[in-house]
Amino acid sequence: MRVSYKNGVKKVLKATALVAALVAAGCGSGEKAEPTVSTPSVASPTAEPIDQQAFTWTDKDLLTADFTLYRVDCASQDTGSFPSGSSAGLCQSLSDMPYGEDPVTHTFWGYHKAAEILPEEDSLGEGITAFKWVVSKEASDPSKAEICYDFSVPEGNYTVTLGFYNPFGVRKINVECEGKTEIKSEKILRYNVNEKSFEAKVTDGTLNLKVFNPNANTFMESPILSYITIATDPEYTRELLSAAVEAMRTDNAAELYTESSAASYLSALEAAEKFLAKESNDGTNQIKQKFKNLRESYKMLTKKLKYDSFNPGAVWTDTEGTPIQAHGGQVQQLEIPDPATGKLVTKWVWVGEDKTNGYRGGVCAYTSDDLYNWQFEGVIMRNVPSRRALEKEEYFKSLYAGCTDAELDNVALALDAERAVIERPKLIYNEKNKQYVLWFHADGPTATSNSNYAAACAGVAVSDTPFGPYRFIGRYRLNTCPPDQEDKHPQSKGMARDMNLFKDTDGTAYIIYSSEENLTLYISKLNEDYTYLETAPEKAVYGKDFIRLFPGAQREAPALFLKDGKYYLMTSGCTGWAPNQARYYVSDSVMGEWTSKGDPCVGDVNHTTFESQSTCIFRDVNSGTWIYMGDRWFADTLNDSRYIWLPIVFKENGDMEISFVSNWKLQ
Ligand code: DGJ
Repeated sequence: MRVSYKNGVKKVLKATALVAALVAAGCGSGEKAEPTVSTPSVASPTAEPIDQQAFTWTDKDLLTADFTLYRVDCASQDTGSFPSGSSAGLCQSLSDMPYGEDPVTHTFWGYHKAAEILPEEDSLGEGITAFKWVVSKEASDPSKAEICYDFSVPEGNYTVTLGFYNPFGVRKINVECEGKTEIKSEKILRYNVNEKSFEAKVTDGTLNLKVFNPNANTFMESPILSYITIATDPEYTRELLSAAVEAMRTDNAAELYTESSAASYLSALEAAEKFLAKESNDGTNQIKQKFKNLRESYKMLTKKLKYDSFNPGAVWTDTEGTPIQAHGGQVQQLEIPDPATGKLVTKWVWVGEDKTNGYRGGVCAYTSDDLYNWQFEGVIMRNVPSRRALEKEEYFKSLYAGCTDAELDNVALALDAERAVIERPKLIYNEKNKQYVLWFHADGPTATSNSNYAAACAGVAVSDTPFGPYRFIGRYRLNTCPPDQEDKHPQSKGMARDMNLFKDTDGTAYIIYSSEENLTLYISKLNEDYTYLETAPEKAVYGKDFIRLFPGAQREAPALFLKDGKYYLMTSGCTGWAPNQARYYVSDSVMGEWTSKGDPCVGDVNHTTFESQSTCIFRDVNSGTWIYMGDRWFADTLNDSRYIWLPIVFKENGDMEISFVSNWKLQ
C-alpha cells in the first residue's frame, strides 16, 4: 500500500508532553473558544527526509486539531474552504490537491487524476456550497470509475470519515481502504449530506482510499465523494484525560450554552473529574469512554441565542438552538401552571405541525415570555407508528387505557405515522371543565381513495395539561350544504380541511374550515366542551349552528380575530404549498354577513402574501401590536419551511394593511 515516501514514523502521543504543552499554552478555563483554525505544523523546507519533517506536530496541535491529520474538501481546487466551516488537518496546507508533496507540511497526499473523474459544485442553500468528485457523463464504463486518494501518515490506527452530498437519485457506493472493503453497496440518499465512518490500521505509512461502484451502469449510478477526514486514534491514558479536562474546562457553561448541551457537557466533565480523582483506576476503555464523552459534549456546546427582534423568513431556532417546528400554527396567551411551582403563570403558547421528518408528523408546542424566544415544550400529540404500538408502547398504552379495539383502530387510522396527515393544529382552553382541546385538520387515505386528502376531517384530542400528551378522541366530517343552497361539491358531504378556531367574548367557540372540496368556507359552532359541534350535522340549523361563506371562492388557511367590535377573517387561495394572494373579509358578528375587503398586503409585488400563507392573527397585549403569522412552505424540504410574522397596521376606517419588514421589534 506504500506509495512514495520513506520510513513511516510512528508517532505515539506523549501524554506528559501534552499536559505540559497545554498548561504552557494556558489552555483550560473560560469560555469555549470559537472553532479554531488550527495551523498545520510548518516544517522548513530542507533536505531532511520528508516524513520526519511532516510529522513534527506538537501534542497540543493534535488536541486542538481534534486529532485530525487531513480534512479534504474534495474537488475544491483549493478554494481554501473546508467542510462545514472547519479547518485544515495537521498534515495539509491545501483543501485538496493532486497526489504529491504538500508545499507547506511536506507530507505526500492527494487524489490520483483520472480522465473520467470530474469536479462539480452544488449549492446546499444558505450560501453553502458543496464541492465533490463525480464521474463524467462520457465515462465509457462507470463501473470502472474510481476516486482514489493516498495520504502519508504515521503507522497507527485512524478513523476515516467520508461525506457524500447527493442532490440526485439514490446512489450506491463501495469504499476500500488499505485494500479492505469498508463500505459495500451503501445507499447514499438524496439531498442529505451522508456521512460514513470506519476504522483503518496503517502499517506502511500510507493510507489508501478508493470510492467506486462496481455495479454502476450509467453515470447516474456512479460514485461521488464530497469530503474526507482522517483522524488519529490517541493513546488513552490518564494524562490525556487530565489534559482534555483542563483544555475543555468551560466556565459558566450553564449560563452561556443551551440547557441540554450544557447539561451533557457538565455531566461528562464531572464524570471525567471523578474518575481522575480516584487513585487506582486505569483501564483504557474507561478512559476512552470518559474522554470521548467529554470531547463530544464539548463540541456540541451550543451558544444560547437570544433574539430581540423578528426576522421573517430566516431560520428561527428555539432556546435549545433547534429550528422551531410549529408550522400551520397558532399563538395565544394562556395561564398555565409553572412546572416548578405549580403556580399559574402567563405565557405565550405556540402550537403547530412538527415537520421534523417531513410531511407527516405530530404536533409541537413552545412557550415564550417575549414572543421572540421560544422554549420547546415537546411533541404534545404524537402520531402512531403502528396499531401494535398502541398496546405495546408505554406512552400510548397509558394514554389509551380502557379503549375498545374499535376505538384503538380508529386512533391508529387517524394518527398513522405512515399515512395520516395532521395539519393546522389549534388549541383552545375550556374554562368550564379545565380541559385543553386540540383541533386539527385530520386527513389521509380512505377505504376507497389513496389520496392524502381523502378523509377531509376535523380531528380532536384532549388533555388536562397544556402540553399533553393529548388523547385523540375522534375525527369527523362536519356540516353539510342545506338543500336549498347550491352545494359546490355534492359528491362528498361535510368535508373539513384547513381549519382554525375562534373563541368569542361570550365563550362560544367556532371552527372555521374549508369544505366542499375547498370551494366553500364554513363556520360551525362548537359545543360547550369544545370537543364537537354544538349540534350534530343531521340536526344543525343553517344560520344558527353554521354558515357557508363565499361558495365557489376557493379559500383556505383561515385566521379569524376580533378587533374593536369588528370580526376579521384572513384567508388564502388554494394552490397547494405554493403561496398565493391573500384576501380578507369583515363582519359585525361571527355568524353574520361577511364582506370582502380584498388583499391586505401592501407592496406585495408578486401577489403571494410575501410568499406566505396565513395561519393565525393575534394581538401582543403589551405593545398592542397585531401580528400576522404565516407559513412560507418549502414543498421539497417541508421541515425547513419558514415563519413570516409581520405587524398589521389598521387604518382609521378599520381596513388592515400588511407590509413586509425584514427585521422588526415590538414597540
Ligand atoms: C395548503 C394548505 O393550506 C396546507 O395546510 C397544506 O394542506 C397544503 N395545502 C398541502 O398542499
